[in-house]
Amino acid sequence: MDTFTAHIDREDIDEEIIRKAGDVIRYGGLVAFPTETVYGLGGDALNENSSERIYAAKGRPSDNPLIVHIADFDSIEAIASLDDKDYPLPDIGGKVRALNDRFWPGPLTIILKKKDIVPYKTTGGLDTVAIRMPHDDIALGLIRASGGYIAAPSANLSGRPSPTKASHVIEDMDGRIDMILDGGDVDIGLESTIVDMTEDEPAVLRPGAITVNDLSKVLGTVIVDPAVLGIDTHAVPRAPGMRYRHYAPKGELAIVKGEEDEVTEYINSQCAAAKSDLLRTGVICADEHVLRYRATSVKCAGRRDDGAFTARRLYAVLREFDEEQIDVIYSESFDEGRLGQAIMNRLLKAAGHKVIDLSK
Ligand code: TXA
Ligand code: MG
Repeated sequence: MDTFTAHIDREDIDEEIIRKAGDVIRYGGLVAFPTETVYGLGGDALNENSSERIYAAKGRPSDNPLIVHIADFDSIEAIASLDDKDYPLPDIGGKVRALNDRFWPGPLTIILKKKDIVPYKTTGGLDTVAIRMPHDDIALGLIRASGGYIAAPSANLSGRPSPTKASHVIEDMDGRIDMILDGGDVDIGLESTIVDMTEDEPAVLRPGAITVNDLSKVLGTVIVDPAVLGIDTHAVPRAPGMRYRHYAPKGELAIVKGEEDEVTEYINSQCAAAKSDLLRTGVICADEHVLRYRATSVKCAGRRDDGAFTARRLYAVLREFDEEQIDVIYSESFDEGRLGQAIMNRLLKAAGHKVIDLSK
């Protein structure tokens, strides 16, 4: 299949291209598009054949549900229940509306009880559906042009880091999908926060740019799925997608924690040993530490106090190590600030939970 890539100027969006891309989705095709979090791989959420094609293009297990992207709040009604009798939580309609007022469009995905119109192929066989309204004019235009409901996982091959640039999408999806809308680099760089509203308490199943604290201000008590914090490595995550080893670079990645100087010394000695075994080594560190490390490839992931930059850069760094054929990678820990939880969740997954804690 030939994949057509169209560049879109955010300041002056070409409506004709959006209309064509919308038609591709209406007729069952697949279009990758930018969102504020990561690039998505979109198909018609209400057409089970489209969902099947998405799983095939990504090489993704079909029990891993897709997020349905909408462009306005009223679109929820057709695909999910907001009726109190379907939920243990009181006043579900009021709560979801409050989340909409505060966070949508934006990097928040809300899980609700699905209606019959949403095929089980889209929800991975579940009776719930994940819904998000992205904060991106290209995405919102495309959703409207394609009939209002786009199922979109991140536009990477299953197991690779999510795409934060159009070039990442081309790397993974060229020849596998109909069209790519190139809207430049994304803003946030990590996938949306997922909050499940279908159980006794609102629960964060995947941390993202909207924090538990942000959600609590609107919802009151919010719990966090313990499996996503890396504290209990045996707990099974509630979001099926969080169970797979995602975002993985080809090299072995380990996160090293401890006093700054100890971390540097440890990483440098490990890299020296790996080098004598003829392995290519990589380091991910804060900008201010870049001159401390000796490795084949040392990558800055932003200043310690600039989590937004680290988030935006993380997946690109992991892909660059693949291109440079790095065999072993050591990363400093980036657990501070608003985005710390989301960044560490993705790093831990990329590392298959391998953490070396020098303070122990
Ligand atoms: O930021 C994002 O959310 C991006 C952009 C494209 O919008 N999308 C994204 O989709 O990250 P994906 O498919 O890569 O991740 C979706 C996650 C998976 O972990 C999946 O298991 C979970 O959401 N999920 C989807 N529906 C669910 C449901 N009904 N119950 C529990 N988890 C669900
Ligand atoms: Mg993904």
